[in-house]
Amino acid sequence: MASSDAGTLLFSWRGCLFRVPDRVQAPKAGSLFLCRHLAVRPGERVLEIGGGLGVAAVLAAKDGARVTATDILPEAVEVMRINATLNAVAVDARLGDCYGPVGGERFDLICTNPPQTPTPPGHARRDAAAVADNGGADGWQLLDRVIAGAPRHLVPGGRLIFTLFAFLGPKAACAKIEAAGLAPAIIGSEIQSFPRIGYERLEHIRAHDLEATMPSGIPETVERYAIQGTAPR
Ligand SMILES: C[S@@+](CC[C@H](N)C(=O)[O-])C[C@H]1O[C@@H](n2cnc3c(N)ncnc32)[C@H](O)[C@@H]1O
Repeated sequence: MASSDAGTLLFSWRGCLFRVPDRVQAPKAGSLFLCRHLAVRPGERVLEIGGGLGVAAVLAAKDGARVTATDILPEAVEVMRINATLNAVAVDARLGDCYGPVGGERFDLICTNPPQTPTPPGHARRDAAAVADNGGADGWQLLDRVIAGAPRHLVPGGRLIFTLFAFLGPKAACAKIEAAGLAPAIIGSEIQSFPRIGYERLEHIRAHDLEATMPSGIPETVERYAIQGTAPR
């Protein structure tokens, strides 16, 4: 069938409308969970790393923040710009890896719902779903870099907020934040459906579940945390 007959997938939430193109991952529970834990004040500078469709970026801009959002996928950057226009806000969407596109800029809030599913050897792919989900062998591949770079990109008193599957380890997350010089806190948690991609790699995830969060048998749910690190004033 010709692509002109493909239809347009839309996602609607909190009074905003988002286009969901084929080559960018649709919002999932973690996307909404991140947004629910972002308290943004008007005028704040916000950076979202891995913005995807731009849901968090657009909502933060609606709340009056000055928002920059990065993604490694050109299609995500393109649709973030479209979704900002659709919702009559400004989002500075930039293409690139992690903090690469923002140089030495600093922000009041850095947020991310990063790829974080532990990924066995041979599962790395370049398609949108893989880039959105695969977190390297232990799930921490991008998150470690986000945490390590946060002190160089936060203003004094600025916050880093990210989502975390329990099997990555909330204690490990707090320890990593502390080691980076930020004050850690768990600011929220909820039970979500176990990620579908996780079923095909259960043994690998169990091998990296160092805080023993996984039940025996086939898990139906997973706890998800919102973790914050605050820079010293
Ligand atoms: C789990 S999705 C989250 C998307 C969106 N923020 C949301 O919550 O729905 C992770 C996003 O990170 C992007 N990403 C993956 N690796 C990245 C990297 N090294 N630098 C920037 N973005 C990256 C993916 O393309 C994807 O859009």
